[in-house]
Amino acid sequence: MIQIHKFENQTNPFINGIQDIFKTKYNFNDNLENLHEILETPLISQEDKEYHKQLHGWKNDRNSIFIKHFHHYVDTEPNFNEIYHQFIKTHIFPLFPNETKLVIQKTPNIRFSFPETAAIGCDPNDPENIIGLHSDSNFGHNENEMNFIIPITKMFSTNSIYYEPTIGSQIEPRDFENLKLETDEFLQAYFNKLRHCNHINKTNKTRISFDIRIIPYSKYMENLDFFNGTKFELGKYYMVIT
Ligand SMILES: [Fe+2]
Repeated sequence: MIQIHKFENQTNPFINGIQDIFKTKYNFNDNLENLHEILETPLISQEDKEYHKQLHGWKNDRNSIFIKHFHHYVDTEPNFNEIYHQFIKTHIFPLFPNETKLVIQKTPNIRFSFPETAAIGCDPNDPENIIGLHSDSNFGHNENEMNFIIPITKMFSTNSIYYEPTIGSQIEPRDFENLKLETDEFLQAYFNKLRHCNHINKTNKTRISFDIRIIPYSKYMENLDFFNGTKFELGKYYMVIT
Protein backbone atom coordinates (compact mmCIF):
# COMPACT_ATOMS: atom_id res chain seq x y z
CA MET A 1 0.00 0.00 0.00
CA ILE A 2 1.85 2.97 -1.37
CA GLN A 3 0.39 6.32 -2.34
CA ILE A 4 2.05 9.55 -3.35
CA HIS A 5 0.16 12.71 -2.36
CA LYS A 6 0.80 16.27 -3.45
CA PHE A 7 0.96 19.48 -1.45
CA GLU A 8 -2.03 20.93 -3.27
CA ASN A 9 -2.17 24.74 -3.39
CA GLN A 10 0.77 25.03 -1.06
CA THR A 11 4.53 24.60 -1.10
CA ASN A 12 6.15 22.09 1.22
CA PRO A 13 5.88 23.97 4.55
CA PHE A 14 8.90 22.36 6.24
CA ILE A 15 11.73 23.35 3.92
CA ASN A 16 12.28 26.95 5.07
CA GLY A 17 12.61 25.97 8.72
CA ILE A 18 15.20 23.31 7.96
CA GLN A 19 17.11 25.75 5.77
CA ASP A 20 17.09 28.24 8.63
CA ILE A 21 18.73 25.73 10.98
CA PHE A 22 21.80 25.53 8.77
CA LYS A 23 21.79 29.21 7.84
CA THR A 24 21.86 30.13 11.51
CA LYS A 25 24.33 27.46 12.58
CA TYR A 26 26.80 27.44 9.67
CA ASN A 27 25.85 30.40 7.49
CA PHE A 28 24.95 27.77 4.86
CA ASN A 29 22.89 29.44 2.14
CA ASP A 30 23.18 26.87 -0.64
CA ASN A 31 20.55 24.33 -1.64
CA LEU A 32 20.08 21.72 1.10
CA GLU A 33 20.98 18.91 -1.29
CA ASN A 34 24.56 20.24 -1.04
CA LEU A 35 24.56 20.17 2.76
CA HIS A 36 27.33 17.54 2.76
CA GLU A 37 29.74 20.33 1.68
CA ILE A 38 29.64 21.56 5.29
CA LEU A 39 31.32 18.31 6.28
CA GLU A 40 34.46 19.41 4.42
CA THR A 41 34.78 22.67 6.35
CA PRO A 42 36.39 23.52 9.72
CA LEU A 43 32.87 24.27 11.00
CA ILE A 44 32.50 20.57 11.77
CA SER A 45 34.67 18.88 14.39
CA GLN A 46 36.98 16.05 13.37
CA GLU A 47 34.89 13.65 15.45
CA ASP A 48 31.68 14.62 13.67
CA LYS A 49 33.40 14.38 10.28
CA GLU A 50 34.49 10.85 11.09
CA TYR A 51 31.01 9.93 12.28
CA HIS A 52 29.48 10.99 8.97
CA LYS A 53 31.97 9.00 6.91
CA GLN A 54 30.91 5.73 8.49
CA LEU A 55 27.93 3.45 8.45
CA HIS A 56 26.42 2.74 11.84
CA GLY A 57 24.27 0.09 13.47
CA TRP A 58 20.68 0.64 14.62
CA LYS A 59 21.85 1.64 18.07
CA ASN A 60 23.90 4.72 17.14
CA ASP A 61 22.59 5.76 13.75
CA ARG A 62 20.86 8.78 15.38
CA ASN A 63 23.99 10.41 16.85
CA SER A 64 24.54 12.83 13.98
CA ILE A 65 25.24 16.44 14.92
CA PHE A 66 22.70 17.43 12.24
CA ILE A 67 19.96 15.42 13.95
CA LYS A 68 20.87 17.15 17.23
CA HIS A 69 20.54 20.54 15.54
CA PHE A 70 17.06 19.55 14.36
CA HIS A 71 15.95 18.52 17.85
CA HIS A 72 17.30 21.72 19.32
CA TYR A 73 15.29 23.63 16.70
CA VAL A 74 12.11 21.68 17.56
CA ASP A 75 12.65 22.33 21.28
CA THR A 76 13.33 26.05 20.94
CA GLU A 77 11.20 27.14 17.99
CA PRO A 78 7.47 26.70 18.74
CA ASN A 79 6.74 27.60 15.15
CA PHE A 80 7.87 24.13 14.10
CA ASN A 81 5.10 22.31 15.95
CA GLU A 82 2.56 24.80 14.62
CA ILE A 83 3.64 24.01 11.07
CA TYR A 84 3.69 20.28 11.80
CA HIS A 85 0.21 20.22 13.31
CA GLN A 86 -1.15 22.38 10.53
CA PHE A 87 0.28 19.91 8.03
CA ILE A 88 -1.54 17.08 9.81
CA LYS A 89 -4.82 18.99 9.78
CA THR A 90 -4.59 20.08 6.16
CA HIS A 91 -3.06 17.05 4.50
CA ILE A 92 -3.43 13.99 6.72
CA PHE A 93 -6.87 14.28 8.30
CA PRO A 94 -8.63 14.10 4.91
CA LEU A 95 -7.00 10.70 4.39
CA PHE A 96 -8.82 9.35 7.46
CA PRO A 97 -12.39 10.55 6.87
CA ASN A 98 -13.89 8.44 9.67
CA GLU A 99 -11.62 9.79 12.40
CA THR A 100 -12.09 12.94 14.47
CA LYS A 101 -8.77 12.40 16.26
CA LEU A 102 -5.44 11.05 15.08
CA VAL A 103 -2.55 9.67 17.07
CA ILE A 104 0.59 11.15 15.56
CA GLN A 105 4.29 10.78 16.21
CA LYS A 106 5.12 13.67 18.52
CA THR A 107 8.26 14.68 16.66
CA PRO A 108 9.09 13.58 13.13
CA ASN A 109 12.25 11.59 12.56
CA ILE A 110 14.63 13.50 10.36
CA ARG A 111 16.91 11.53 8.06
CA PHE A 112 20.09 12.69 6.38
CA SER A 113 21.49 10.56 3.60
CA PHE A 114 24.88 12.03 2.75
CA PRO A 115 26.89 10.87 -0.27
CA GLU A 116 28.76 7.61 0.37
CA THR A 117 26.78 6.79 3.50
CA ALA A 118 23.15 5.95 4.29
CA ALA A 119 20.33 7.54 6.25
CA ILE A 120 19.64 4.56 8.52
CA GLY A 121 21.59 2.00 10.49
CA CYS A 122 22.83 -1.31 9.12
CA ASP A 123 21.34 -4.59 10.22
CA PRO A 124 23.66 -7.54 10.90
CA ASN A 125 21.54 -9.64 8.51
CA ASP A 126 21.58 -7.15 5.65
CA PRO A 127 22.18 -8.70 2.22
CA GLU A 128 25.15 -7.40 0.23
CA ASN A 129 24.85 -3.71 -0.77
CA ILE A 130 21.61 -3.33 1.24
CA ILE A 131 21.42 -1.10 4.32
CA GLY A 132 18.96 -1.57 7.16
CA LEU A 133 16.47 -4.02 5.67
CA HIS A 134 13.38 -4.16 7.92
CA SER A 135 9.69 -3.57 8.29
CA ASP A 136 8.64 -1.38 11.21
CA SER A 137 6.81 -4.26 12.91
CA ASN A 138 10.30 -5.78 13.45
CA PHE A 139 10.90 -2.92 15.91
CA GLY A 140 7.71 -3.38 17.89
CA HIS A 141 5.59 -0.84 16.02
CA ASN A 142 1.85 -1.46 16.02
CA GLU A 143 0.27 -2.82 12.86
CA ASN A 144 -2.30 -0.01 12.79
CA GLU A 145 0.41 2.54 12.07
CA MET A 146 0.65 4.20 8.70
CA ASN A 147 3.94 5.77 7.62
CA PHE A 148 4.36 9.12 5.92
CA ILE A 149 7.55 10.40 4.34
CA ILE A 150 8.00 14.07 3.59
CA PRO A 151 11.01 15.05 1.50
CA ILE A 152 12.96 18.17 2.41
CA THR A 153 15.18 17.60 -0.62
CA LYS A 154 14.35 15.62 -3.72
CA MET A 155 14.45 11.84 -3.12
CA PHE A 156 15.78 9.72 -5.96
CA SER A 157 17.99 6.79 -6.82
CA THR A 158 20.36 5.67 -4.06
CA ASN A 159 19.78 8.69 -1.83
CA SER A 160 16.21 7.45 -1.35
CA ILE A 161 14.37 4.42 0.01
CA TYR A 162 13.83 1.03 -1.61
CA TYR A 163 10.70 -0.96 -0.73
CA GLU A 164 8.78 -4.09 -1.65
CA PRO A 165 5.52 -3.16 -3.40
CA THR A 166 3.33 -5.82 -1.74
CA ILE A 167 3.30 -7.38 1.71
CA GLY A 168 4.97 -10.76 1.91
CA SER A 169 6.45 -10.57 -1.59
CA GLN A 170 9.37 -12.86 -2.19
CA ILE A 171 11.15 -10.06 -4.04
CA GLU A 172 14.86 -9.80 -3.34
CA PRO A 173 15.82 -6.45 -1.73
CA ARG A 174 18.09 -5.63 -4.70
CA ASP A 175 14.94 -5.71 -6.88
CA PHE A 176 12.79 -3.49 -4.63
CA GLU A 177 11.07 -0.40 -6.00
CA ASN A 178 12.94 2.88 -5.67
CA LEU A 179 11.01 5.75 -4.11
CA LYS A 180 11.10 8.96 -6.15
CA LEU A 181 9.67 12.05 -4.51
CA GLU A 182 9.73 15.70 -5.51
CA THR A 183 9.62 18.21 -2.67
CA ASP A 184 5.99 19.07 -3.44
CA GLU A 185 4.97 15.46 -2.80
CA PHE A 186 4.80 13.17 0.21
CA LEU A 187 4.42 9.44 0.61
CA GLN A 188 1.91 7.32 2.46
CA ALA A 189 3.08 3.75 2.90
CA TYR A 190 2.37 0.74 5.06
CA PHE A 191 5.99 0.28 6.07
CA ASN A 192 4.83 -1.52 9.19
CA LYS A 193 4.61 -4.64 7.03
CA LEU A 194 6.32 -3.71 3.75
CA ARG A 195 10.06 -4.37 3.91
CA HIS A 196 12.19 -1.35 3.08
CA CYS A 197 15.87 -0.41 3.11
CA ASN A 198 18.51 2.05 1.95
CA HIS A 199 21.54 1.76 -0.29
CA ILE A 200 24.83 3.63 -0.05
CA ASN A 201 24.07 7.07 -1.46
CA LYS A 202 25.93 7.29 -4.78
CA THR A 203 24.10 10.39 -6.08
CA ASN A 204 26.41 13.19 -4.87
CA LYS A 205 23.29 14.82 -3.43
CA THR A 206 22.25 14.88 0.19
CA ARG A 207 18.76 13.66 0.91
CA ILE A 208 16.89 15.08 3.90
CA SER A 209 13.44 13.80 4.80
CA PHE A 210 10.98 13.44 7.63
CA ASP A 211 9.20 10.24 8.50
CA ILE A 212 6.23 10.07 10.79
CA ARG A 213 3.80 7.43 11.94
CA ILE A 214 0.10 7.90 12.40
CA ILE A 215 -2.58 5.71 13.98
CA PRO A 216 -6.32 6.32 13.70
CA TYR A 217 -7.42 7.20 17.24
CA SER A 218 -10.15 4.54 17.18
CA LYS A 219 -7.53 1.88 16.40
CA TYR A 220 -5.30 3.14 19.17
CA MET A 221 -8.16 2.86 21.65
CA GLU A 222 -9.00 -0.66 20.46
CA ASN A 223 -5.40 -1.68 21.12
CA LEU A 224 -4.72 0.00 24.46
CA ASP A 225 -3.23 -3.18 25.87
CA PHE A 226 -0.61 -3.12 23.15
CA PHE A 227 0.50 0.43 23.98
CA ASN A 228 0.07 0.81 27.73
CA GLY A 229 3.35 0.62 29.59
CA THR A 230 5.46 0.76 26.43
CA LYS A 231 7.51 3.58 24.92
CA PHE A 232 4.78 3.89 22.30
CA GLU A 233 1.99 4.93 24.65
CA LEU A 234 0.33 8.33 24.29
CA GLY A 235 2.36 11.16 25.81
CA LYS A 236 5.67 9.48 25.06
CA TYR A 237 6.22 8.64 21.40
CA TYR A 238 2.76 9.80 20.32
CA MET A 239 0.30 12.59 20.89
CA VAL A 240 -3.34 13.12 19.93
CA ILE A 241 -4.39 15.78 17.49
CA THR A 242 -7.92 16.84 16.71
FE1 LIG B 1 11.18 1.79 8.76
